[in-house]
Amino acid sequence: MIGVFDSGVGGLSIFKEVKKLLPKESFVFLADQANIPYGGKTKKQLKNLCEKTTKFLLGQDIKMLVVACNTASCYAIEHLRSKFSIPIVGVVPAIKPAINLTQSGKIAVLSTPATAKSKYLDKLVKKFANDKKVLRLGCKGLEDSIEIQDDKKIEKLLNIYIAKVKRFGADVIVLGCTHYPFLREKIAKRLGSKVEIIDSGKAVAKRVSNLLEASPLIAQKNVEEIFFTTGDPRQFSQVASKLLKYKVAGKKAYL
Ligand code: DGL
Repeated sequence: MIGVFDSGVGGLSIFKEVKKLLPKESFVFLADQANIPYGGKTKKQLKNLCEKTTKFLLGQDIKMLVVACNTASCYAIEHLRSKFSIPIVGVVPAIKPAINLTQSGKIAVLSTPATAKSKYLDKLVKKFANDKKVLRLGCKGLEDSIEIQDDKKIEKLLNIYIAKVKRFGADVIVLGCTHYPFLREKIAKRLGSKVEIIDSGKAVAKRVSNLLEASPLIAQKNVEEIFFTTGDPRQFSQVASKLLKYKVAGKKAYL
């Protein structure tokens, strides 16, 4: 199985893309909802949490790990790679593709507060977008409202954050948190068709596929999906089923 984890249901946006590209693979998904939001945690806390989630998934006998969380990838992926020997694929904001799309030279990266101020994002911006204007917008509270599907709060927060993007004048928006692709339509409606919205889902799926093809790990037979949460399995199952558009039954995980 391929292990996939996030702090919550956001990682399902990555899971969806990987599954679409690799329908013969089996997956075990873990939402660390007891510890959400990752976006408000320190580097030390994130390293510690990610180590626990990885150990849990290794206990499920995974062959590869997808860290389906920008925040965890920005702060803990090197740590995980130094500790564990299986292939690990991370998710980081899609700065590089954004550069090829912008005409105004202004890009807005929407992410958790932790990702917005991370050194990892510093590096990405310096490397690929040094000559561009980049707005790094930490959208506090947005992932939480997606977790509980609080539409009123989602609307309220989007009004605030998208107004900032408009004022800045970005013509490309990078969704730098795996929860946000589930708001793509709402964001697009506010920005109109001249603004491009991109995320990392397809690129991550491609990376997973390339790694599998290059190794003897590619799956051949029965397909299975298992979902775990460290939070409330009923709440997880309800929201995950809504987001994936099919019935999901999450089990309780103890890290
Ligand atoms: N989905 C996660 C990300 O991509 C973060 C959500 C959280 O703050 O826990 O960064």
